Amino acid sequence: MNVMKKQPKDIRVFLTRVIPDKGINLLKEEGFQVSVWKQDRPIPAEDLIEAAKHADAILCLGTDKINKDFLNECKHLDIVSLFAVGYDNIDVKTATSLGIPLGYAPGAMSEATADIAFGLMLSVSRKFFYMHKKILRGEWTHFRPTANLGMELKKKTLGIFGLGRIGMEMAKRCQGAYDMDIIYYNRSHNEEAEKTFNARKVSFDELLQQSDVLSVHSALSPETKGIFNKEAFQKMKPTSIFINTARGPVHNEADLLEALQSGTIWGAGLDVTDPEPMDANNPLLQMENVAILPHIGSATIEARNEMARMAATNIIEFYRGNKIPNMINPEVKVKQ
Ligand code: 8YV
Repeated sequence: MNVMKKQPKDIRVFLTRVIPDKGINLLKEEGFQVSVWKQDRPIPAEDLIEAAKHADAILCLGTDKINKDFLNECKHLDIVSLFAVGYDNIDVKTATSLGIPLGYAPGAMSEATADIAFGLMLSVSRKFFYMHKKILRGEWTHFRPTANLGMELKKKTLGIFGLGRIGMEMAKRCQGAYDMDIIYYNRSHNEEAEKTFNARKVSFDELLQQSDVLSVHSALSPETKGIFNKEAFQKMKPTSIFINTARGPVHNEADLLEALQSGTIWGAGLDVTDPEPMDANNPLLQMENVAILPHIGSATIEARNEMARMAATNIIEFYRGNKIPNMINPEVKVKQ
């Protein structure tokens, strides 16, 4: 199909959730026919297929499964634009083989997510969440010189697993606040990090062995799934803190629980779990050196507005016949 022949008024854009007005308004101002799944929960797979069948483009969320089944049913889509940076919910290979361009929103939430990683690190090191629970239980009774002791972070070593935009923001915060040494594990060198933070690229084992705080900022992929398992935790320092604000399946939860219970590592801060949402009875939620948040890395007004703008702009620029500003699969040659 030659999408350039389509007039905006004939282009149907389906949004799988209500996103900030900024994004919806941009699409409406462009003259598209915009429809939105209005319910405050993820759209079921069958409804998504049904709605996408009557659309030319979709703007979707990370919670939508843009898998082989969906893509094979909706081969007609001109573009899929994701309101997220992590695209492990999309079968990129299938979309690419079908010639469907994929947009996403990198960079929009780097600072917001690094704030959560930094906040979790501090919360674990000083046991914020557990101390709060103690007050609620009426256990703030008197001053105790040797109780409630946390750990300081000054000049400790921050290990970053997957040093991209979010990891850079985490490094900036940790070096600025605590003068931390930065080591990282990546496939390739991050020259900017080496120049700006004097960061050192290390092997995976060295990252495990040397980190005082190990913060995960990688994508979820077959290579990273479950990489933080029993064997990995056993190589970490007994005084170390594990932070994951990327994707829950990158760590093995049963192994993490065991590592925390046995004192193999000192603490953990998670903004992501597997599954999400986490069961309210999960034992990790009651542990002293654990802080858990409900996947709120990108949940700021600023980040969500920018994600909405970027996701909408990918669709707008595509139909204007311009390069998609942020494309996951640039190898797709857009038929224009
Ligand atoms: C979303 C995210 O909260 O952008 C990402 O990769 O993890 C977050 O912005 C997530 O996609 C919700 O499903």
